[in-house]
Amino acid sequence: MEEEAIRRIREGFTALYGAEPEGGWAAPGRVNLIGEHTDYNDGFVMPFALPHVTVAAVARREDGVLRLHSADVPGGPVELRVDDLTPGSDKDWTAYPAGVVWALREAGHAVTGADVHLTSTVPSGAGLSSSAALEVVVALALNDLCALGLKGWQLARLCQRAENVYVGAPTGIMDQTASACCEAGHALFLDTRDLSQRQIPFDLAAEGMRLLVVDTRVKHAHSDGEYGKRRAGCEKGAALLGVDALRDVPYADLEAALERLGDEEEVRRLVRHIVTENQRVERVVSLLESGDTRAIGPVLTEGHASLRDDFRISCPELDTIVDTSLSAGALGARMTGGGFGGSAIVLAEEADVDTITKAVEKAFATAGFKTPRVFEAVPSAGARRLA
Ligand code: GLA
Repeated sequence: MEEEAIRRIREGFTALYGAEPEGGWAAPGRVNLIGEHTDYNDGFVMPFALPHVTVAAVARREDGVLRLHSADVPGGPVELRVDDLTPGSDKDWTAYPAGVVWALREAGHAVTGADVHLTSTVPSGAGLSSSAALEVVVALALNDLCALGLKGWQLARLCQRAENVYVGAPTGIMDQTASACCEAGHALFLDTRDLSQRQIPFDLAAEGMRLLVVDTRVKHAHSDGEYGKRRAGCEKGAALLGVDALRDVPYADLEAALERLGDEEEVRRLVRHIVTENQRVERVVSLLESGDTRAIGPVLTEGHASLRDDFRISCPELDTIVDTSLSAGALGARMTGGGFGGSAIVLAEEADVDTITKAVEKAFATAGFKTPRVFEAVPSAGARRLA
């Protein structure tokens, strides 16, 4: 399947630009198993890569021109000059790859232009990191072609800078690191403070289980502003508690910290989510490492309750997936990603998958929601060169 994708993207490149590309690269989307909104609090996350990828064919240019084209978007290539790239100037999809070129050049790397042709199977707007896949595939291609010698975590940092400064979205480092660094058959236990990582074997099929992704196919208005508000609230909490980041509040000190926050009710709720969520990531890691995989289910469900009640970023569609799948026998379920729509994950015994899927579809139809998209998530490879 991958060979077919790269053959098509290479042919598309040649038809578009009249020359052969220098190579083909792929970068995946991700789901996050546990550790939500902890990344901009210097905390722990545990994503894994999806089989869905953005694939790019790329060739270097020496003349300062950057041409960007997506097979998924109507119209011809967008042509830019690398010297003219300016943060905030682009509101289209091209801001992501252009932002990567800008961030590489800002960091002093000699990127003198490129022709890029790409296509993606990562659903966009589903909370599955289609933007990170787009950033990382371009960063990896330029890293290889320009012999920059940057490691996966360094590319992730540059891609995050592209997203924060060039695109203007105040996101953390999880999605780009997941796309750049995940390994097939593993979840990535990542400390977002120093980007130290551990690959945790995560092969549910071998144990008779499945992890479903349920895409609600909704993205609620104002979600971008709400993300920024949560982030600002967390930073306020850290400042009030006199720590660099909420990561520095140990779980054992949570009650004392909440007491110190007095009547700052909203900040107290945000702090409680972050501190308990970091602890949930650590619990999931130790359960997986001790082979007690089924026991992570209730921890995932606890995480959902915390995001719904304390962090307040769930929505009726996500809550319906969680409640319905648990009633239909799921081991655990939670929203995943930024919230306010996007996707949920459901951990289930293989034998219960059909019953759960049908129950969720029925509940959505009854509530008058859009038909959800359900697929099985298999922990897949991170970004790589294909040809
Ligand atoms: C989005 C952001 C990530 C992270 C998650 C929530 O996916 O891009 O950095 O904050 O939301 O965990």
